[in-house]
Amino acid sequence: MKLAPSILASDFSRLGEELNAIAGADWAHVDVMDGQFVPNISFGLPILAAARAASSLFMDVHLMIDRPERYLKDFADAGADGLTVHVESTPHIHRATQQIRELGKKVGVTLNPGTPLETLQPLLNDVDLILIMSVNPGFGGQKFIPHSLERIRTVRRWLDEAGSAAELQVDGGVGPTNARAAVNAGASNLVAGSAVFGGDGAQAGLERLREALK
Ligand code: DX5
Ligand code: ZN
Repeated sequence: MKLAPSILASDFSRLGEELNAIAGADWAHVDVMDGQFVPNISFGLPILAAARAASSLFMDVHLMIDRPERYLKDFADAGADGLTVHVESTPHIHRATQQIRELGKKVGVTLNPGTPLETLQPLLNDVDLILIMSVNPGFGGQKFIPHSLERIRTVRRWLDEAGSAAELQVDGGVGPTNARAAVNAGASNLVAGSAVFGGDGAQAGLERLREALK
């Protein structure tokens, strides 16, 4: 069970301290948005590089950008440990996963809540992580879409049938009230932004999430 706080919800003016506060987490989730693939712009390479320099956490980079293959090497060079790309963001999703593999980084694929899960099937054996989006990507602080649990269960079954040890990650609206349900459905990796950074400090937020999973 891995916890991956999303630094999108952190205080960027204190990024180093915020990363320090989540040092007890497993991964740092890094949400890159381009204002094209999603209707919002977050941050890009320099922020990833700064986070990389400030923390030894696994940098789990979620690319919400059009045609991510144009930038995979740049994000790898800036310090990504894992790169997750959307099946909707390129006509060449398989090539994109191969490129991530060639860069020596963990290969992740994801899809929007409205995209059929079947688009994942040809990729199942080539990935280290599948991310089920439980909100429409673009913004932190949205409500968890309940049907996502069903989608997690389906992909869990597929991974088990394929004998795959890939991470099954869930991202969007995850917090103490639904973390347990997501894990019961088969998730092995939880992303949480506002639930970790949105209250009285990231350390306390992370602790609440861990308590909910006990
Ligand atoms: C949404 C991002 C998420 C987001 C999660 O587009 O991919 O990672 O930061 O934030 P919360 O946990 O607040 O929904
Ligand atoms: Zn994300």
